[in-house]
Amino acid sequence: MLKKILLRLAILVPVGLLIGGGVAWYQMKFDNARVMKSASYAIEGEKPTIRMAGLEIGGPFTLTDHNGNKVTEADFAGKFQLIYFGFTYCPAICPTELQRMTQIMNQLPADYSDKIQPIFITVDPERDTPELMKNYVSLFHEDLVGLTGTRPQIDYVLKAYRIFAARVDDPDLSDYTMDHSTFTYFMGPDNKLLSIYRMKDEVDFILNDIKAKILAARTQPQDIPS
Ligand code: NI
Repeated sequence: MLKKILLRLAILVPVGLLIGGGVAWYQMKFDNARVMKSASYAIEGEKPTIRMAGLEIGGPFTLTDHNGNKVTEADFAGKFQLIYFGFTYCPAICPTELQRMTQIMNQLPADYSDKIQPIFITVDPERDTPELMKNYVSLFHEDLVGLTGTRPQIDYVLKAYRIFAARVDDPDLSDYTMDHSTFTYFMGPDNKLLSIYRMKDEVDFILNDIKAKILAARTQPQDIPS
């Protein structure tokens, strides 16, 4: 009898874990598609515009910056934020996106860029230690802050920002890689989402959008960043 129960458990537990894991993975992937759908990109004339249908992105978090200091969302409040999620081992996409973020920061007039905090959050905290993050962000913009944390802390922030990330084990590679969302979020000084930029968005389009959003915030006295 006990043998039978144990045998049944031995079969049911792995099957349950497999199904549970599969459902969780599918939900993350589905959520990712939903973020893009509800952000509803539209082409108006020549210029693409991004419409946000009341998207709830972001929220409180506790992470560790590239100097090893504990930080929360409150440390960045009061500044606009450009946030990108990725990992330092990423072969091509992450460096390209962070290069674009650097270009944007450098091309904005100082009275705009001064108000923006560029942030890189790892989806791979197992490998991305603060030391590694420090070396990595130094390859890009001088103001870029790299954030890592424990796996639960990172999972929490990924969920809050609706970022999909999954480990991919490739037998042809000596180490694993990560499949992940490639949005760049532009957040207001109140930590609320202003825009989502995609990989294909040109630097000029993003520059114009950022300027417009910062100008619009200036006309609302309560939102003027210090
Ligand atoms: Ni990447």
